[in-house]
Amino acid sequence: MKVPPRPAEPGELIPGDYFRRLSPDELFTTEAPLEVDLGCGDGTFALAMARQFPERNFLAVERLLGRVRKVCRRASEADLENLRVLRLEARYTVEWLLPHASVSRLHLLFPDPWPKARHHRRRLVQQDFLKALGKILIPGGEFLFKTDHEEYFEWAREELELFGSFEPLPWDERCEDLSFYPETDFEAQWRAEGRAVHQLRMRNPAT
Ligand SMILES: C[S@@+](CC[C@H](N)C(=O)[O-])C[C@H]1O[C@@H](n2cnc3c(N)ncnc32)[C@H](O)[C@@H]1O
Repeated sequence: MKVPPRPAEPGELIPGDYFRRLSPDELFTTEAPLEVDLGCGDGTFALAMARQFPERNFLAVERLLGRVRKVCRRASEADLENLRVLRLEARYTVEWLLPHASVSRLHLLFPDPWPKARHHRRRLVQQDFLKALGKILIPGGEFLFKTDHEEYFEWAREELELFGSFEPLPWDERCEDLSFYPETDFEAQWRAEGRAVHQLRMRNPAT
């Protein structure tokens, strides 16, 4: 039996073809710096960013349909034409779907830490992902990562050091680009529980 395709939610990005890289104008019709929120959850961060920076485009990526629907609904209620939501697996999106040299900032905020050793290979931050990330970031583009999980944070630092192509940047809230950087839903929960948050910021070299 053929299952009819699910209709798109307002503002949802449903690629016509999942087996080729998108072109930038398939993502947004307006040309603007592109930021990606990978694993956006309830979209608190992406929605606040899109509201604050109408001159930038935001792509929120999330695999759970209920969350995708919620973010689309909130974006549509707020008339945010610079925010689109893609329901897809995060690694696949970065490795196979996003155009090369198209992303000015990729935010990976509180990804699943996969704490059990036998699940570590499911962690997003590792060599293949970083290699793909280096290709989709523009020269000078940034990777911003936050986690409450200290061991995953150390793991990410080691993977980034091994990868070796990105340069560390300070996470300094006085810097213009970070002066508005809203808390995510998970971050608010972890901070309320008194947990420490670890963060890092890396840049793709501008060559
Ligand atoms: C711990 S939550 C963090 C959500 C949000 N970034 C925040 O800080 O509030 C992780 C989110 O990533 C999504 N997620 C996990 N693995 C994913 C994957 N492989 N591809 C896409 N989304 C994923 C989950 O459904 C969940 O919404």
